[in-house]
Amino acid sequence: MSRSVFNRVGAFILASGGAAMAAACLLSPAPARAQDQSAATTKDLIFARKIVMNTIGKNMDELEGVLETDKKIDLPDAAEHADAISVLLMAFPHLFAPASNQWKAGAARDPGVDTFASPDAWTNYAEFYRLAGAASKTAFNASRARDEATFRKFGAELRATCDACHAAFMKQE
Ligand code: HEC
Repeated sequence: MSRSVFNRVGAFILASGGAAMAAACLLSPAPARAQDQSAATTKDLIFARKIVMNTIGKNMDELEGVLETDKKIDLPDAAEHADAISVLLMAFPHLFAPASNQWKAGAARDPGVDTFASPDAWTNYAEFYRLAGAASKTAFNASRARDEATFRKFGAELRATCDACHAAFMKQE
């Protein structure tokens, strides 16, 4: 990762509030706890990556709202959503510490806090990381689009990348 990546992440955090800020706080080292520190940290990590993905999802909902109609696209507004997705997708694959590999077939899970990340993300991390990078780059290209046709092209490509990664690396239940 180059310095420019960190500059963009920093600029994004400065430029945005809400969930992204909460995620940034969660990404900083957890305060020391007297007991059970590693378990608490793993829970926080899973929560952080769910917030990151949730925020990606909300930004994508905004983009799909405009992609699904023939109405004129507000490119500067769409670019902000695409840029947010791009930056968050850079951070996302760094939230997969080994202890957070906790999905188990048939186990009861709470969609609010439990992970749906497939164990395949750890066994095939190189491919998982590659897909995250490819999706981030596609979102970045969408954010730089100067005309609607280009934006629509990268927007559709981005949707396909979300779906490809979920098919390979996310459990549905
Ligand atoms: C590199 C793989 C990858 C890419 C690319 C990806 N996702 Fe995800 N996504 C995941 C994984 C893994 C989870 C499950 C995370 C967990 O539960 O720990 C997830 C979870 C989610 C969730 C549920 C979050 C929650 O509340 O638990 C949403 C919504 C989502 N993704 C939307 C998107 C959208 C929209 C895109 C494309 C812009 C996208 N994702 C791209 C891997 C990916």
